Amino acid sequence: MANLKNKNLISISDYNKEEYLEILRIAEEFEKNPKQEILKDKVVASIFFEPSTRTRLSFESAASMLGAKVIGFSNPASTSQSKGESLHDTIKMLSSYSDIIVMRHSIEGAARYAAEVSSVPLINAGDGANQHPTQCMLDLYSILKTQGTLENLNITMVGDLKYGRTVHSLVQAMCNFNATFHFVSPNELKMPSSVKMYIKEANLNYHQYTDLNEVIPFSDIIYMTRIQRERFSDPLEYEKVKDSYILDAAMLKGCKNTMRILHPLPRVNEIAADVDKTTNAYYFQQARNGVYVRQALMAAILGVK
Ligand code: CP
Repeated sequence: MANLKNKNLISISDYNKEEYLEILRIAEEFEKNPKQEILKDKVVASIFFEPSTRTRLSFESAASMLGAKVIGFSNPASTSQSKGESLHDTIKMLSSYSDIIVMRHSIEGAARYAAEVSSVPLINAGDGANQHPTQCMLDLYSILKTQGTLENLNITMVGDLKYGRTVHSLVQAMCNFNATFHFVSPNELKMPSSVKMYIKEANLNYHQYTDLNEVIPFSDIIYMTRIQRERFSDPLEYEKVKDSYILDAAMLKGCKNTMRILHPLPRVNEIAADVDKTTNAYYFQQARNGVYVRQALMAAILGVK
């Protein structure tokens, strides 16, 4: 059995297939019984230098259901960073106030750096356009729950594949499960070469498209993403691509009955409201799964599961 005690989670590739499956197994236990006071003596530091709804609040909800105390901030302007304190010193302090740190930051690599400074384990809750490994774990959990397996699936990813950190993490993880990848994006927002290299090194295949309708009939999962406005340096470039893909219910005619639509959320325009009522929509349940998966991660890393 995998032992994750004190193991940081910075990139999804820090964990191996056995460790993913162990987290999913524990998450399933928490889904059946989410209120267990097993972290009563623990303090979780939840520090968000970038906006978040789901990640921050599902971590805090997960910690509360396990009996942990939560400290932290969601507005860095209210901290001594606004007086010039460095990330190094902030992390040094927090690691003496808590048992585990959950951090989101806008700078790629900030989580890896913080983990090196911290004396307690650190979980990356998203670092710039780089990685979002806990979202990836809940995506894996959602795929497993809806498809009954993680193996041999056609995984379609749509939208901002350049800046969308969730798709970068998910490709890396699904390379362990013999996936075939289908990437649908505007030319300006294609999947980065570094991620495509990862697929090639795993001896798997990917295909690239600009037309979403082409892939709907054979996809097992359609993973929609928001165009990441905050990562564009030129607002005009964002305006050009912002509504590139809008999935609506009529487009789902001819899809597999078992196909499920995922989205890390928040959505802007990329999934029409009429999709919400279809049996293919799974994105709100996916977000709820985040609580169980984050319970599993904290419990395993703190050595109580
Ligand atoms: N999926 C996700 O990371 O959502 P938030 O930005 O609201 O945390």
